Amino acid sequence: MAAQANPQILSDVIHIRSLAFFLLLSYHVASGAGGTWQLLLSNVGISAMHSQLLINDRVIIFDRTNFGPSNISLPNGACHDSPNDAVSKQDCTAHSIEYDVALNRIRPLTVQSNTWCSSGGVLPDGTLLQTGGDKDGERKARLFSPCQDNSCDWTEVDNGLAARRWYASNHILPDGRQIIIGGRGQFNFEFFPKTNAPNLYSLPFLSQTNDRGDENNLYPYVFLNSDGNMFIFANNRAILLDYSKNNVFKTYPEIPGGDPRSYPSTGSAVLLPVKNLEATVVDLEVLVCGGAPKGSFDLSLRRNTFVKALDTCARIKINDANPQWIVEKMPRARVMGDMTLLPDGHVLLINGGSSGTAGWELGREPVLNPDLYHPDKPVGSRFEVLNPSTIPRMYHSTAGLLRDGRVLVGGSNPHAFYNFTGVLFPTELRLEAFSPSYLETQYRSIRPRIVSPTLQSTINYGGILRLRFRVMGRVKSPVKVTMVFPSFTTHSFSMNQRLLVLDHFGSSRMGLWTHEVRVKIPRSANLAPPGFYMVFVVNQDIPSEGIWVRLQ
Ligand SMILES: *[C@@H]1O[C@H](CO)[C@@H](O)[C@H](O)[C@H]1NC(C)=O
Ligand SMILES: *[C@@H]1O[C@H](CO)[C@@H](O)[C@H](O)[C@H]1NC(C)=O
Repeated sequence: MAAQANPQILSDVIHIRSLAFFLLLSYHVASGAGGTWQLLLSNVGISAMHSQLLINDRVIIFDRTNFGPSNISLPNGACHDSPNDAVSKQDCTAHSIEYDVALNRIRPLTVQSNTWCSSGGVLPDGTLLQTGGDKDGERKARLFSPCQDNSCDWTEVDNGLAARRWYASNHILPDGRQIIIGGRGQFNFEFFPKTNAPNLYSLPFLSQTNDRGDENNLYPYVFLNSDGNMFIFANNRAILLDYSKNNVFKTYPEIPGGDPRSYPSTGSAVLLPVKNLEATVVDLEVLVCGGAPKGSFDLSLRRNTFVKALDTCARIKINDANPQWIVEKMPRARVMGDMTLLPDGHVLLINGGSSGTAGWELGREPVLNPDLYHPDKPVGSRFEVLNPSTIPRMYHSTAGLLRDGRVLVGGSNPHAFYNFTGVLFPTELRLEAFSPSYLETQYRSIRPRIVSPTLQSTINYGGILRLRFRVMGRVKSPVKVTMVFPSFTTHSFSMNQRLLVLDHFGSSRMGLWTHEVRVKIPRSANLAPPGFYMVFVVNQDIPSEGIWVRLQ
């Protein structure tokens, strides 16, 4: 759990009675306003370049296989030949690990082929699908099914993909398949599982958004719209794609200013919390933040000039008849940041730098402060600056929500190898957690605790979900119930990240501290694709710990 007030300090405070009130007050002001950081493990052996939370509350993390030995051995003394490795032709180290959140412990996993700059997502049964990479890994699909007994490991499927996928983005579809979009030199998309048909569909939008030399169209930001079409953002603009007919359904304007927001001018993006799910047209909004000015990659690479990153976000209602971007100023410039949806519906902006771009050695001025974005406040008062970490998280770092409400932060390796000395930002093997202020002990009395359902129960489209929870303090009715799909994070984009605010159906008080809230389960897989979600009860902006439910 989060670092809390040190009991020793508190008891000292009580002894110095005249100062007690003042000290307690200043403690809360210092940490309550901006969250706390906690170092979880000082060496996880690899750099957390890609990460995915699974339904057993373990996080699968991996980097790449061809850049020398990591700092963690393969299980059971195994080694494998790695003819493409730039450092050693035999590798006895692991490049993937499983992090157990409850035990704060890792175990090495076996990935054989190169997963570098790949993509992924969780399938409806909870299995992680990872797609592509480089060299011997570029057309691999890899599967990882979670287990409780440490027996599970990666399975690799040769030719699991129709095309090479390097810097592509994935999204789960309403029918449970995944779409895999783009990647270096790939102006097309495909589906997993692969079919016998060509399974490859051309997408000219990706060549139109490819800035020669800089690219700026990789790792596109992809979100499933409530009408079943796919919103695809690359560079500085977006389309709505009917992927089943390969038909561009709608074209969105450029973000004012025209600067690129996709890799290597890496900003980040989220689908804002989806609510009023019963509306005829659900009002989906996309928020894109940060990035780097046009030409920034080339200037960093060839001239050693690291220009200021973008300090704006752009927000759009994607189902409007005439959708327009609204540009907002952030507290600072940020490139290579991550955007994480928190269970209370706020957006955390975390990691990255203030100048340069993504790419080896091309980022500068680490941003240590996360910023919180409140989507429902008026423009101009939406941002809150949070407490800083001490660890720069530059290129190849990640952030992701855990079921207990913390955000797991890892990685940063802006080098071609594991380089720990003689570089500006050493390869980072430390794993941290950021605890937003809602986890502070001062909110304990109003924090809900879900008592039922308990196990991984199944819920059905269009049904009613009854949640019983306990709160010692005041409940401000109706409480909010949110549902979050666990996302696959790499290169500042969390694929499949989606938070739904469920429509209220009823609520009752069951006992002194026990309450029941009834909410409507989304009626359509276009709103919420099938699979496992974390469900949270939120009382006065303070979320409970989540529970896993399976939507089908
Ligand atoms: C990891 O690093 C430590 C400290 O440098 C070293 O002692 C250990 O042998 C390394 N382990 C592996 C598997 O590389
Ligand atoms: C980074 O590591 C590689 C491989 O260990 C080494 O060849 C290279 O010189 C290192 N670079 C720096 C800047 O230390």
